[in-house]
Amino acid sequence: MSDLSNKKILLGITGGIAAYKSAELVRLLIKAGAEVRVVMTPAAQEFVQPLTYQALSGHRVYVDLFDAEAESAMDHIELARWCDLLLVAPATADFLGKMNAGYADNLLLTLCLACKQPVAVAPAMNQQMYANASTQQNLAQLAAKNVLLWGPAEGEQACGDVGQGRMLEAVQLLQEVERHFSPGRLAGLRLLLTAGPTREAIDPVRYISNRSSGKMGYAIADAARRQGASVTLVSGPVALPAPQGVKLVNVESAQQMYDAVMQEAEASDVFIACAAVSDYRVDQAAEHKMKKSADTVSLQLVLNADILAAVSALEKRPFCVGFAAETRDVEKYALGKLQQKNLDMIAANLVGEGGQGFESDFNQLEVFWPDGRQAVGPASKTEVAKQLIDLVAERYTCARS
Ligand code: CTP
Repeated sequence: MSDLSNKKILLGITGGIAAYKSAELVRLLIKAGAEVRVVMTPAAQEFVQPLTYQALSGHRVYVDLFDAEAESAMDHIELARWCDLLLVAPATADFLGKMNAGYADNLLLTLCLACKQPVAVAPAMNQQMYANASTQQNLAQLAAKNVLLWGPAEGEQACGDVGQGRMLEAVQLLQEVERHFSPGRLAGLRLLLTAGPTREAIDPVRYISNRSSGKMGYAIADAARRQGASVTLVSGPVALPAPQGVKLVNVESAQQMYDAVMQEAEASDVFIACAAVSDYRVDQAAEHKMKKSADTVSLQLVLNADILAAVSALEKRPFCVGFAAETRDVEKYALGKLQQKNLDMIAANLVGEGGQGFESDFNQLEVFWPDGRQAVGPASKTEVAKQLIDLVAERYTCARS
């Protein structure tokens, strides 16, 4: 992990019991080389005394918007300009709501509005408050405004409840800060990715599709973004929130996915085809809803263009990674596709068995490239995505050097 020397962190503390963990966070950040200034809301001071953070950070703690003495040392606009990152930890439901609405009735809220540098929040609240639609809406809207959301974690809460809403541990927040400042293995690269299923219309209300949930593709998009890539995700219809910091292009049919990918492919460095593209479409989708009449009905299906093969055949082609979802003979089919589609890598997985693959949160891959192979997982799709992106970064560097 990178060290944080020369990094200036403004740590905002709001009124939650997790404020005690932020004392440890100050210590860890300073140990990693960062310079830390602390700002507290009035409610935060009900939980921990400013003196605690002052002793740990070695600087006065900012608490009051109208503190003339503090303003003369460094006014609030200057403080917002000073930092490389503003991290609010813990961020209570109340604070997140006000922040999303653009309130500025305490010093920390004012700083959030005045700060041009990245702002991150570490939510901390009761699990029911976290699950509440208002909180979820506030978080989604903050994410859409490029506020980084770190956590929350799941577990036992101070109130005795168990669930999601705990603030990440200090050490995990330190890792997030370090990751934020490290350029990443894919820094400067443009990564294009397909995910989810496609829908092929039969008539205006019916379609042919498959069981892909998009979870693997979305996890890969997130892992690639965390490694510094600028990511474009072309996604079929899924029930997943848009990943943070990623350009999302929503499509339905294989043809729409093809068009969206082709627009970006030549300008991309890496292409990962994770979507479960429908191989066939209905030849002539009915213009109006089909009525039941005959006992049997036949649909004439025609082959869709293979998006991955088309990208790989481009003259100015990106590094191409395919997926092979198989129900048997994984290695044979995967190696066949690697060769036929002229790919740089293929990630093969067995679907339809043992709770892995489609719809599951877990996965296990066998990744092949022309002169090697590596097993990834079994693990959560988040972990599998991380390891796959590491492997892509490694192979990309080898292929381009
Ligand atoms: N793929 C694609 N466009 C298609 C079909 C597949 O980009 N029209 C991509 C998938 O995203 C995946 C890879 O090709 O990365 C393999 O897809 P898969 O359906 O497993 O293989 P097919 O080549 O379609 O062969 P088959 O269905 O016979 O297994």
